[in-house]
Amino acid sequence: MPDAIGYELLGDIAVLKAQNPPVNALGYDVRTGLMDGIARAEADGARAVLIYGEGRTYFAGADIREFGKPPRGPALPDICDRIESSPLLVVSALHGTALGGGLEMALASHYRIAVPGARMGLPEVLIGVMPGAGGTQRLPRLVGLDATFDLVTSGRQFGAAEALELGVIDRVKDGPPREIGLAYARELLDSGAARRPISEMPAPAAIDFDAVYDTVLKKGRGAISAATAVRGIQASVELPFAEGMKRERELFMELMASDQRQGMIHAFFSERAVGKLPELKGVEPRELNAIGVIGGGTMGAGIATAALLSGLNVTMLEMTALAAEAAKGRIEGNLSGALKRGKISQAKFDDLTGKALTLSTDYDALKEADLVVEAVFEDMDVKKTVFTKLDAVCKPGAVLATNTSYLDVNEIAAVTSRPGDVIGLHFFSPAHVMKLLEVVVADKTAPDVVATGFALGKIMKKVSVRAGVCDGFIGNRILSAYRACADHMILDGASPYQIDKALVGFGFAMGPYAVADLAGLDIGWAVRKRLAPTRDARERVPSYPDQLCEDGHFGQKTGKGYYVYEAGKRAGVPNPDVPGLIDANRAELGITPRDFSDEEIVRRYMAAMVNEAARVVGEGIARRPLDVDMTLLFGYGFPRYRGGPLKWADMVGLDTLLADIKTYASEDSYFWQPAPLLEQLVAEGRSFDDLNKEAS
Ligand code: COA
Repeated sequence: MPDAIGYELLGDIAVLKAQNPPVNALGYDVRTGLMDGIARAEADGARAVLIYGEGRTYFAGADIREFGKPPRGPALPDICDRIESSPLLVVSALHGTALGGGLEMALASHYRIAVPGARMGLPEVLIGVMPGAGGTQRLPRLVGLDATFDLVTSGRQFGAAEALELGVIDRVKDGPPREIGLAYARELLDSGAARRPISEMPAPAAIDFDAVYDTVLKKGRGAISAATAVRGIQASVELPFAEGMKRERELFMELMASDQRQGMIHAFFSERAVGKLPELKGVEPRELNAIGVIGGGTMGAGIATAALLSGLNVTMLEMTALAAEAAKGRIEGNLSGALKRGKISQAKFDDLTGKALTLSTDYDALKEADLVVEAVFEDMDVKKTVFTKLDAVCKPGAVLATNTSYLDVNEIAAVTSRPGDVIGLHFFSPAHVMKLLEVVVADKTAPDVVATGFALGKIMKKVSVRAGVCDGFIGNRILSAYRACADHMILDGASPYQIDKALVGFGFAMGPYAVADLAGLDIGWAVRKRLAPTRDARERVPSYPDQLCEDGHFGQKTGKGYYVYEAGKRAGVPNPDVPGLIDANRAELGITPRDFSDEEIVRRYMAAMVNEAARVVGEGIARRPLDVDMTLLFGYGFPRYRGGPLKWADMVGLDTLLADIKTYASEDSYFWQPAPLLEQLVAEGRSFDDLNKEAS
């Protein structure tokens, strides 16, 4: 028997212990070990089998690293069938996270006991597949259709208490899984309890599955896994168990072969890889208990909220007592959202807005802060003044961070006597909600300051990406390029509304013009003005958005931008004034508008995104293509099921994209200059994923 499963016979109970760290994933050795273990228990004359996991968890799922490779050894559904049909009484004792194939193993067991802290779930749809070892066939028989739809199509985790209430498990008991499992198996044997195969339980009655399928498909914004899982669940009702299992397998295999599965799994591993940097190996972060936040606008208040929620003490610095009160109001507003959603208790709310939060108008209040992040007005002179003051008051070793989204962190660091302590921490608004944090490393930033940036991200449960210094870092720099491409398409004949619609069709959470309205049109306006003096004469920049700003329309916050927003409504309707402004701009430039198909819009937009992303990687602003992918996924609404722009590019084919870019260059050779890295990869027949692999 492979070592991945330990075997022990204790009287009439055989014990199968999973020992495949870190998460007891159901890889080849584990699967083989389970098959052997059951056979051995039967041969040894045991009456019951206990299955549990050593270390931090019961089986956390199939081994995702095996996905897409040729199958080896016994398949998970066969093991589940083998376990369920064994004449022995099989008990699973759950702790840690029993996810996916892990939970399916538990469902194939005849009885399930879990520790109170155990978490369960069928998260397969979140990695682009669906339960493939009986989850869609057994769960409906156990808990009914409504609960099955909820759990399978959301992929959400649930705790032991909910599992007990739903009937997913039979008992909750505190203690080491081995001991509670053994006691339970003993009790069942002594009471003469019968085996209880779920496959023999009656299936629920049929319902209108097409309606459920349609709803789930729509909610997925193009993701197909959850909707496909509905068809699997349907089979549990319409087909006998064995046939249902076959159908489930077929659907599972279809998803396994899909690009979406590749995209989602790329996202799963990349999300974990972003924080693993060779430069941080063995580097200890500095202490982080108290942080200071300068500026209590939307961004500063969001950062303060995120810090408070992660257990840090926060000193919020504002210019005046009145502004400080307003900042407190914003933080309280954010936290009351968490209170309403049951994320924090009233007592916690009182604590966070009371003891943990200090308001001040005096820089001296930041003397003891371990890290200070400024979120003041986006202007170099203002930032320099702030950093000069911080340099004067902060204790030695304090990390001094700027939340700038475009400005040169080297220039900011240079006004201090301690540039090694200066770093960019670029949060995304609202900072207590958005998962992305760009950790911007300047020329002189010390390694332990970088480690501290990542440590802060971890405490705040962010996805932190390392970025180098350039205008816009990773995300906003790429955004500037694809947004410029969209602006060019508008000048040439497309409308902002068609562009937004086409990109939502591609899977983006929002189109670029709805995003611009949300972020505030004044931001882009300020950037355009800042860049105007050094702009190349060949660059095509529309002037009509300036007109909107000059008229005081900054998007959602003023009720009008590309869209008009009715009070109380988040979604807007097209602003009827915009087409006229665009027409005037075209006339001024002598452009005769032409039609764009949605497909062409997506194609150009994505080509611009990938091209700039390739430049960002080529210049070392992003260390690896996967860093770009995670930036776009967690900060810019890129559809997770496409993995990120560079994963998407690999799947489309880099040669195809390069050919597109060269074609577009015949119209505008200034904008459409192919990125050297893209040309190099095409010439060498390599992919972005090859670069990811080389860097890991
Ligand atoms: N297959 C292969 N490797 C897995 C894995 C799986 N199912 N689940 C986790 N791992 C790996 C991670 O990649 C990570 O590897 P690394 O240390 O080399 O980076 C390691 O196990 C620890 O995982 P991590 O996510 O960092 O730990 P955690 O404690 O935060 O979370 C889980 C643990 C199990 C909750 C989380 O990893 C998870 O959700 N895994 C996926 C479960 C899943 O989708 N199962 C269904 C598959 S059918």
